[in-house]
Amino acid sequence: MSDPVSDPVLVLLHAFPLDRMVWDEVLDPLSQTGTDLIVPDLRGFGQSRRRPAGADHADQDHADETDDDEPDLEVMAREVLAGLNRVGARSAVLAGLSMGGYVAMALLRLAPDRFVGLALLDTRVSADTPAARADRLRIATEVVAAGDCAALADAMVPALLGPAARSGRPELVARVHRTIAAADPAAVAWAQRAMAARPDSTATLAGFAGPALVLRGAQDAISTQLDQDLMLAALPAAEPVVLGGSGHLSPLEQPVAVAAAIGGLLDRVRRSGDGAR
Ligand code: MLT
Repeated sequence: MSDPVSDPVLVLLHAFPLDRMVWDEVLDPLSQTGTDLIVPDLRGFGQSRRRPAGADHADQDHADETDDDEPDLEVMAREVLAGLNRVGARSAVLAGLSMGGYVAMALLRLAPDRFVGLALLDTRVSADTPAARADRLRIATEVVAAGDCAALADAMVPALLGPAARSGRPELVARVHRTIAAADPAAVAWAQRAMAARPDSTATLAGFAGPALVLRGAQDAISTQLDQDLMLAALPAAEPVVLGGSGHLSPLEQPVAVAAAIGGLLDRVRRSGDGAR
């Protein structure tokens, strides 16, 4: 570990099957809060693309990164924790969008003392129903068989973006589509299987006493109002935000409002006096 960073950093965890690009529009305003940002590409996505299991790999830094880990969101969480350790960040505020929210909950289980604030965006606390689980496993098989994510992008973009973005922001629609279409099918399948295996996290949230934010796009077709209510009921110190005019990808669809909400959470963390550990 390098010298410990005494102020909490802000960790932004992206949605499936995208990468850190989901935070692009909020990086500037959040940097202006003076908080250091850590914005990883989660396992297999974006710049963290894996080599296939068994393949030769010349880069020793990534020599242990194969595609054969058991699908489990805790693997993603451990990698995020290793990144925090590498930069000497002893405490952090977590902000997770959808799958990123599931990873945030896994991080709270792994290292509860490291986290001093929590923003859950367009995500859910419950485990999958058997039908949802079966659907994920089917998609995982199909995407690997297809060998690319073009059909997945066609299917997912209409559900991910709300009506305003779909009709008024063609460049955003194209950017999201391009990112999904370029994703690694093996990483997509692994993440689907890992999400299918995730536990209910109600007890995890109930044990988090720090300041929290639960945000949802009002037109989110994936995470429901009930999902938001369940997270608010579980968290002892959560504030709700509902964004009109936004679908599931709120940091891309309503970046000003999302940055303001996360900035407000950072203020609450500072005021709570628990920020520096
Ligand atoms: C996401 O946006 O990360 C996904 O909708 C999460 C999920 O499939 O549950």
